[in-house]
Amino acid sequence: MALTAYETKPVYPPELEAAASPTAAAAEYIYSEALDDKYKDNSARPYLPKSFRDNDMTLRFKKLHPSFMAEVSRVDLRTVHDEPTLQALRTAMTDFGVLVFHDQHFSYDEQIEFAQRMDGTLHSKTSSSVLSKNRFGNEALTDISNVGQDGNILEAADRRRMNGISNRIWHTDASFEEPAGRYSMLYARNIPPVRADTEFADMRAAYDALGADTKAIIEDLHAYHSIVYSRHTMGFDFSPEESAKLPGATHPLVRKFADSNRKSLYLASHAAHITEWPVPEGRLLLKDLIEHATRREFLYSHEWSLGDLVIWDNRTTMHRARPFDDKAYKRELTRVTTLDLPLAMSQP
Ligand code: OGA
Ligand code: MN
Repeated sequence: MALTAYETKPVYPPELEAAASPTAAAAEYIYSEALDDKYKDNSARPYLPKSFRDNDMTLRFKKLHPSFMAEVSRVDLRTVHDEPTLQALRTAMTDFGVLVFHDQHFSYDEQIEFAQRMDGTLHSKTSSSVLSKNRFGNEALTDISNVGQDGNILEAADRRRMNGISNRIWHTDASFEEPAGRYSMLYARNIPPVRADTEFADMRAAYDALGADTKAIIEDLHAYHSIVYSRHTMGFDFSPEESAKLPGATHPLVRKFADSNRKSLYLASHAAHITEWPVPEGRLLLKDLIEHATRREFLYSHEWSLGDLVIWDNRTTMHRARPFDDKAYKRELTRVTTLDLPLAMSQP
């Protein structure tokens, strides 16, 4: 079955750039004293203190899409412990929504520890955790793979596989939790010899592109998010006992962020209905908004290389896995997701 026809990139409308964060709209954005002059028209903010900028490690962010997504220059995230660098990465997350790092070398613990340094408290009440025990002995390290405990490819009808391939519908991680997920950090440990991308949608650009009338209608609405609902739409049902562990949560449909001063649509496939509206009416609105937000110009597809770490902000993006022949090839990634809680004031 040829499932993986990757389309070429669309021609992006210029208003998409205009809508992006000022720094994300700049062609390339570089944190370095020496290059500041050259790039002064980029409005690159002085994220890093002088002492840091003076050493070798300069973080560069290369934009991958007109409105979001950036590739970060060479940095070994295991060595990033200092608050200024972590803060620079958080600011870049605010600007770009998704960051791609290549050539990482995380053990399981190192991946978890980096996620905690970067963004605090980890999500562990995952859908996989109600189905089986975690392969790595830690529910905060989600097994995003098609293999079981024995390291073999899961059988076609295995419930873990059915749950896992449901990542191929547009979603945003842990939106069915309270607090919901903030950053997800997905690390490629074993990739197949065929493309098996992860695709992202920019929900801030999608919000910006809505008409004023729609913005006014949706401004104060809330959506109820449930993974029991979204898996049911895929024909996968949790048992009553499993479902009881995944009660769902209600969140604003439009989220406002003080750091970027922007708004985002917050919905995707776990969003079951609008709490203020009758169910069918709200569900239709959600479907329309998802259709709008997944117009080609809001999308970027990440093609994985071994050792890539991709960090996305679940509050400002949606994502989905793209299909590949998962009965023939292994694909093994591990994911850590943080919860949308205030960061404890970290050390100076
Ligand atoms: C996830 C996810 C997509 C993929 O890890 O949350 O949705 O491509 N992954 O594996
Ligand atoms: Mn996901």
